[in-house]
Amino acid sequence: AAIKTYQFDVQVNNVSRLCHAKPIVTVNGRFPGPTIYVREGDRVQINVTNHAQYNMSIHWHGLKQYRNGWADGPAYITQCPIQKGNSYLYDFNVTGQRGTLWWHAHILWLRATVYGAIVIMPQQGKPFPFPQPDKEEVILLGEWWNADVEAIVNEGNKLGLPPNTSDAHTINGKPGPFFPCSEKHTFTMEVEQGKTYLLRIINAALNDELFFGIADHDMTVVEIDAVYTKPFTTTALLIGPGQTTNVLVRANQVPGTYFMSTRTFIDVPIPVDNKTATAIFQYKEKVINIPFLPKLPNLPSSNDSKFALSYNRKLRSLNTLQYPANVPLNVDRNLFYTIGLGMNSCPSCVNGTRLTASLNNISFVMPETALLEAHFFKIKGVFRTDFPDKPSTAFNYTGAPLTANLATMKGTRISKIAFNSSVELVLQDTNLLTVESHPFHLHGYNFFVVGSGIGNFDPKKDTANYNLVDPPERNTVGVPTGGWTAIRFRADNPGVWFFHCHLELHTGWGLKTAFVVEDGAGADQTILSPPKDLPKC
Ligand code: C2O
Repeated sequence: AAIKTYQFDVQVNNVSRLCHAKPIVTVNGRFPGPTIYVREGDRVQINVTNHAQYNMSIHWHGLKQYRNGWADGPAYITQCPIQKGNSYLYDFNVTGQRGTLWWHAHILWLRATVYGAIVIMPQQGKPFPFPQPDKEEVILLGEWWNADVEAIVNEGNKLGLPPNTSDAHTINGKPGPFFPCSEKHTFTMEVEQGKTYLLRIINAALNDELFFGIADHDMTVVEIDAVYTKPFTTTALLIGPGQTTNVLVRANQVPGTYFMSTRTFIDVPIPVDNKTATAIFQYKEKVINIPFLPKLPNLPSSNDSKFALSYNRKLRSLNTLQYPANVPLNVDRNLFYTIGLGMNSCPSCVNGTRLTASLNNISFVMPETALLEAHFFKIKGVFRTDFPDKPSTAFNYTGAPLTANLATMKGTRISKIAFNSSVELVLQDTNLLTVESHPFHLHGYNFFVVGSGIGNFDPKKDTANYNLVDPPERNTVGVPTGGWTAIRFRADNPGVWFFHCHLELHTGWGLKTAFVVEDGAGADQTILSPPKDLPKC
């Protein structure tokens, strides 16, 4: 194992897209930010220096950070933000994980521009459990706003309305040739006929689930969220914000120019789809035939829920001797969280009400002291551990919206979990007013997605149908609109771990909480001591 070191300078740079030049926050002046290349077993030290006027913190999305929440990054959850002029060294080991993950700012909406890929190569001498690719490429899917993102958010908060959506999707920071002034902002991937490519695809968008495909080229899914899967072939991928998907693509078509593209998946038809990003999949071979117009991939339509359902059903853990799926078969702690979206009174808002989001009717209030510090140093009054295991009253969750469901409480309330207990959490969507699935992300862990369905979760019938053999293992999972998803994990990583919807809009409205996983009895089952340079609030 080696020590890999990186210097991240957070700074403001002028970047132009869609004929709009504006200052954005970057890492080392790059948009998207630099890729981190490490090997399983490495120790990684990333020194983040903040030169920007915003407070900053960076999250290494999907890295488990065993006993080491200090390196996890979400502002006010595991650390205070890094203030202007200060540095913080994120120092962690990459243990038991290999594949594609990513990093992003974890404060306000700054991850709109502050993000990049993390590539973890398998240990030396351990090949991939699929045909070795000739080459690989990182594909970061993102969004571009012409306006200043933080200003949009602040405006939205004042009006109590959702902020504008972005102006374009991007592929490796570029929207592609169909947008104004964007000919030169087109990502091109060069391929050679007959070769196989590993694409490491990351959805770094703030608020959109995305489809992705390459014209005339099939993709074989081999990994999601840095966990190997049973391979299956598809013409399009569905990928939620926070998720990653590795695919093999063989350049096996007539040499020429093909488009790859990415577009929104949402449960309603989009009147005008003006955000689809494209990039170029370019054969190096000379095209002898008459040049043909590059083809666009045949992506599912933006409201194709059927495709989404069947795609998600195909995702299975590899579950071999070497890569077993250790699904918890018994459950020590049953949690049932309803997802609520609605209006709440807001005296300071222009309209007197604002949109709010909640779990079990609790809209999370960000603390002013980091939860992990409060837990570790036993600072009183920062959070309460009385987050309810289930809603106070059962109701027809997917029936007509209830007023009761819209009356949200506020609080910094989290759930306490005993070390090493096996947890089942059912996430139940409740609101018919919304049209999108919620991609929920758990920090510090992977979990198994043992079941999911449409309508109300039925504890008898649905648990009987759980997949406890080869369910997908991941760190972010979608809860379908008007449906539910059940996950299981073993709480073997002590610390305070954020749990939230990865749609930044909903996180901002309060769709988040945290788990405080207690220390175990063993000397190696306790939270490590914080580093000396841990930022102060
Ligand atoms: Cu990728 Cu808490 O987030």
